Amino acid sequence: MASLEIITYPDERLKQVAQPVERFDEALRRFVERLEQTMRDAPGGVGIAAPQVGHLFRIAIVDVSSRPKIACNGRMVLINPEILSWEGMVKGREGCMSVPDFTGNVVRAECITVSALDETGRQREYRCTGYEARAVQHEIDHLDGLLFLDRLVSRRTDLFPRKNYGSRKSA
Ligand code: NI
Repeated sequence: MASLEIITYPDERLKQVAQPVERFDEALRRFVERLEQTMRDAPGGVGIAAPQVGHLFRIAIVDVSSRPKIACNGRMVLINPEILSWEGMVKGREGCMSVPDFTGNVVRAECITVSALDETGRQREYRCTGYEARAVQHEIDHLDGLLFLDRLVSRRTDLFPRKNYGSRKSA
């Protein structure tokens, strides 16, 4: 299965608010499969959102299980996700497949509860902490037309050129 093409900053589609998914049909499941394949084909890909391939619907996938020694939920398909609770704040480094030349420091909640539908339309709830919570918040931002660039406290001190694409995780 071929990867989908990742669109990159400053493409205007990355700034749009994505639409909720209403039909949980075979076409949706096929799209989710291709989106996941695109994430897994990307170096260090731990998350992806449908707007990153120009599909402006509220669909994201997160799987940080390739990162050693962290607690996580494994593969999560997050359709029409809602964050139900936030706890703590922590600053950390993020990369994004749509911003291939930079990484940046962003403040995120340390611990969240997120509710979403999966690709079969079943309601799910996940508790996420640390790096996984960060990845989920990063992907939900994509559904609202936001990039990590929009959340930097300062472009001068919190934005870094990426020297080696493969060395950092992207979402
Ligand atoms: Ni991203």
